[in-house]
Amino acid sequence: MTFVVTDNCVKCKYTDCVEVCPVDCFYEGPNFLVIHPDECIDCALCEPECPAEAIFSEDEVPTGQEQYIEINAELAEEWPNITEQKDPLPDAAEWDGVPDKIDHIER
Ligand code: SF4
Ligand code: F3S
Repeated sequence: MTFVVTDNCVKCKYTDCVEVCPVDCFYEGPNFLVIHPDECIDCALCEPECPAEAIFSEDEVPTGQEQYIEINAELAEEWPNITEQKDPLPDAAEWDGVPDKIDHIER
């Protein structure tokens, strides 16, 4: 089991989540974060920390966002590790809550 970062993180990237992860399993792209499924210990600490409510347990990913399970696994192999919180993206408040941001993920 793993936790998964989903659609509402895209173009927000608040990064509150990385501060609480005991195993540092978050990986950072230009405008999105992912969780490495082989490193996540399923502790659930990050889920309530996300201001965008973008983190879900693998078995609770909202309907229509299942593709994020594979996206997290794929991009965690490509992107660098992030272990410290940083400022959110400048337009985070504007994009928070906008649906279907998957095509905006920059790689
Ligand atoms: Fe890290 Fe725990 Fe969140 Fe997994 S569930 S990403 S181990 S904080
Ligand atoms: Fe993204 Fe939420 Fe973390 S917006 S960077 S999953 S705190």
